[in-house]
Amino acid sequence: MSIPSPQQLDTLADQVYEQYGQDFRHYSRSSMGRRVEAAMTQLKEREFDAFLMRVTSDVEVFNELLKNLSINVTAMFRDPWVYRYLREKVVPVLATYPHIRIWSAGMSTGAEPWSLAILLKEEGLLERSLIYATDFNPNVVRQAAQGAFPLERMADYTRNYITAGGKNAFSKYYSATPLQAYLDPKLKENMVFSTHNLATDGVFNEFHLILCRNVLIYFDDELTNRVLQLFHDSLVGRGYLTLGTKECLRFHGAGRYFERLHDKYKVFKKL
Ligand SMILES: C[S@@+](CC[C@H](N)C(=O)[O-])C[C@H]1O[C@@H](n2cnc3c(N)ncnc32)[C@H](O)[C@@H]1O
Repeated sequence: MSIPSPQQLDTLADQVYEQYGQDFRHYSRSSMGRRVEAAMTQLKEREFDAFLMRVTSDVEVFNELLKNLSINVTAMFRDPWVYRYLREKVVPVLATYPHIRIWSAGMSTGAEPWSLAILLKEEGLLERSLIYATDFNPNVVRQAAQGAFPLERMADYTRNYITAGGKNAFSKYYSATPLQAYLDPKLKENMVFSTHNLATDGVFNEFHLILCRNVLIYFDDELTNRVLQLFHDSLVGRGYLTLGTKECLRFHGAGRYFERLHDKYKVFKKL
């Protein structure tokens, strides 16, 4: 078994789009190749053509592929200095609005929006905020809405929370069972969980802050530009955009609509 060729990936993406409406046609071919190879290994399928046949004729097989293509690595207060920057520089500006709308796009299992809810609570803004938490994978959206995270990760998250400028004992925000930590459901009152596909769906509200971290790295230039345009159209004037630390706007046409506020933390402002 080897990584499928770019032509094979094109065929797979076209047929998946036709059959299921999921659009992977503009995902970066290098990372997609590795993920498709991993899916083939899991499904014990050595031949690409046979794999393609199974994906397009069996929704269960397609769901396995989707799981592989939707890379769900995440963490609460991931890159904690970014959250610290948001807390110190962006939140005071958000505080000037009567109502605050935030979009966590491609949020995976919810670590990002739940972290934001805690941060806003501590800054006294949660009650007048709405955090829209979206991902294209319905399974992770369901999981995110539960606010449950593996207990074994809480030590890491606590360290992140402290570095991010957390003001309390982090344990105050969750109750622990032997395996899981359940975040305080009160935090969820100001959160909305939904599917949204950045490749195919459009504007659905106007936001003061959008976080889309560690998602654009999986997209090609064309899709990245589409998504940046979508974010531009979804932000209020002078609204904020935060990308992952390895992502940048510099080489994308739609990047010219944003001013860079912090080079390393990838915080931008709509021009
Ligand atoms: C690596 S995770 C990033 C999670 C979180 N933003 C973070 O930085 O910790 C990437 C997420 O992007 C989501 N994703 C991939 N393609 C997407 C698309 N077209 N629309 C919305 N979400 C997408 C995946 O399902 C996955 O949950």
